[in-house]
Amino acid sequence: MTDTPLYDAYRRFLEDPATPFTVPGHKRNPELVDELLALDLPLYGAVEALDGSTGILARAERLVGELWGADWCGFSVQGSSHGNMAIALTLATPGDKVVVARTLHKSLFFGLVLAGLEPVWVRPDIDAETGLTAGMPVERVEAALAAHPDAKAVLLVEPSYVGGVSDVAAHARAAHAHGVPLAVDAAWGAHLGFHPLLPPHALQAGADVLVTSVHKHITGFTQSSMVLAQRERIDLERLEAAFEGLHTTSPSGGIMASIDRARALLQERGAELLGVAIDEAERARERFRQVEGLGVVGAEIAGRSPALLMHDPTKIVLTLAGTGADGIAVADVLERRGITLEFADRDTFCPVITLGDTPGTIARMTDEIIRAVEEHRGEPRALVPLTAWTVDPVTAMLPRDAFFADHERVPAAQAVGRIAAESVVPYPPGIPALAPGEVVQASVVEALQAEAAAGTSIRYCGDPTLETILVVREP
Ligand SMILES: Cc1ncc(COP(=O)(O)O)c(C=O)c1O
Repeated sequence: MTDTPLYDAYRRFLEDPATPFTVPGHKRNPELVDELLALDLPLYGAVEALDGSTGILARAERLVGELWGADWCGFSVQGSSHGNMAIALTLATPGDKVVVARTLHKSLFFGLVLAGLEPVWVRPDIDAETGLTAGMPVERVEAALAAHPDAKAVLLVEPSYVGGVSDVAAHARAAHAHGVPLAVDAAWGAHLGFHPLLPPHALQAGADVLVTSVHKHITGFTQSSMVLAQRERIDLERLEAAFEGLHTTSPSGGIMASIDRARALLQERGAELLGVAIDEAERARERFRQVEGLGVVGAEIAGRSPALLMHDPTKIVLTLAGTGADGIAVADVLERRGITLEFADRDTFCPVITLGDTPGTIARMTDEIIRAVEEHRGEPRALVPLTAWTVDPVTAMLPRDAFFADHERVPAAQAVGRIAAESVVPYPPGIPALAPGEVVQASVVEALQAEAAAGTSIRYCGDPTLETILVVREP
């Protein structure tokens, strides 16, 4: 067994709790506390001393740093959303340019708003067969760096929401050749580097800083996340200040302890459990391939898309257009039958498989998806790639300036040609299809309205029907 200092401290407190004259307000009063609240401990005052003097958190973070080979690690209870914003505040100063994948998560976009950065957008390839986002060509990023030699960093999303992994090592070499760091949003990549059939994680590939969600592909509590960084090109003092500045002063001890435990499990049994996930995902893909019209994304996507290094073999991605089934209706039936999917829109399913799955859970998910798709078969339709993968924005203003600009809400038709003052985010995958500072394009509005009408959840805007859009007021 490896050390689990935070997790052990959490257990110790539960076994022998003090009478707290600290927050949280439930005070562990047995009359008020049920089994849910009984597990709620603050990090500071229960798991770690109020002043942080035991060094338990620092030890747990150091163990992660050693396992991933990072000089610095910060545990977060605010998801990778927190890390993305802290990274944006670290890499550059207001007004600076950064080269950013336009498939960025909305949290990184708001990091650009917070930091006042100017994005130089680069868009990954689209896989022609599936309409899904594919790899980010290194030459595209190099061209952006050559056209903007004053850019201060490159920020990529690897793996993509649908499991594509670009050649991060080549990206790191290219960024470093231009004298800038490479930051990777690896929210979906906490398991990378821990099985021989998986690609290396971003730091192993040479990136300078990554953020990853411990709750997504490994076994942390919901919200658990961490940032890992190398000191050569990252100002670690600034990163720590940004990370702590944006972090709650009252982190949950349970969430923090779960990161320690997730790291230990990955270290001790990661390869074994990931091996099961990889084998069973492949078995499920084989079964899905037998279903007429169902598109099944697997290793072959990397053969078709030159910028993809590989497809994450734990990731199952299905395209439904060829079956004629409406994914939203199928997902509703699946939910009633006890199967919830991470990503389900009209055309695409992405049931997340992790090292927490067993052959039994994966077989049941496969059975139920096949049954529900067969029940909903219809006329095959053409694939329509999601706006989130294809959007090619015309940027007219800095995201920060547009976010803070005087604004007005107008009917969508009148918004066309004006500058957006809000973001419009189909969720999942959480990529802004329209963002503050971008010119509202008729094609984007029409595509988003069609997605909303087809059942995709549109978020982070004032009017999710998109009948109206918030735009920058004209002088
Ligand atoms: C690429 C990407 N980055 C960041 C996040 C945010 O992660 P979290 O939910 O842990 O805040 C997500 C969430 O889905 C994501 O897809």
